[in-house]
Amino acid sequence: MNSSFHSFFCRPVWTALILLWVVPAVVQSQEVRVVPGGTAVPPSVARPLIPPAMTEYMGRTIAPAMSYHGGGAGWLLRKLREEEEKPSVLLPELRLKPGQTVCDLGCGNGYHVLMMAPLVTPGGTVIGVDIQQEMLDDLEKRAGISGVENVQTVRGEVHDPKLEPDSCDLILLVDVYHEFSHPVPMLAAMRTALKPDGVVALVEFRGEDPEVPIKTEHKMTKAQIKKEWEANGFSLDREFDGLPWQHLMFWKRK
Ligand SMILES: C[S@@+](CC[C@H](N)C(=O)[O-])C[C@H]1O[C@@H](n2cnc3c(N)ncnc32)[C@H](O)[C@@H]1O
Repeated sequence: MNSSFHSFFCRPVWTALILLWVVPAVVQSQEVRVVPGGTAVPPSVARPLIPPAMTEYMGRTIAPAMSYHGGGAGWLLRKLREEEEKPSVLLPELRLKPGQTVCDLGCGNGYHVLMMAPLVTPGGTVIGVDIQQEMLDDLEKRAGISGVENVQTVRGEVHDPKLEPDSCDLILLVDVYHEFSHPVPMLAAMRTALKPDGVVALVEFRGEDPEVPIKTEHKMTKAQIKKEWEANGFSLDREFDGLPWQHLMFWKRK
């Protein structure tokens, strides 16, 4: 380094300017971030922000998630459910096989998880994903009581089911898609999690049918489902119209 350059940059005035301009700019660029919910997260542990929740998607009002504490957990296990939704008719339509990895996404307290688990043995697993830890705790307790061992639980986030890529033969969604506050990243995550020949089984209360005694925003029409799923990289594989209250539509990756 020549001596005139050295003496120029070593002058106290330049040192002062660097301290006044450069250091604050660097510190400002790493400022503490505030995540939804109001918690301040220092830069060293900052996580990616959750995108804002949607209240509407493609002309549909998104329903609030069913809460464990508002009677939801009990309603999901109601005795009348077999009569009203006929899970005994739904299950064979899923065509489960031993050894498969199945995800029940938005599994609640595991009504379908515990029915599916014996159908993928030996060697198969049912992964129950939900955003409410209380639902998952309830599922784990019920699996323990029933002696069902091939069940895993995963605490998902509203925009991320935390599934491994190329891991699922089947993803089941029963009465949950209409609650997704982040439908686009959830659909993208499901596409990524499916094995190449995997399918998503979508079950939704029929929006076209006024006889189905469920609030409007908790129902969906086939036309609306098709609009949303086709726009997000899925194509209809097959469908079954034999459930009393619900659509059952199977979607594969386009
Ligand atoms: C109406 S319950 C249905 C539960 C279960 N599928 C059944 O049929 O018994 C909907 C569930 O979806 C969950 N849920 C909502 N949004 C979710 C999301 N983004 N990821 C995972 N679970 C979600 C809720 O916490 C709730 O337990």
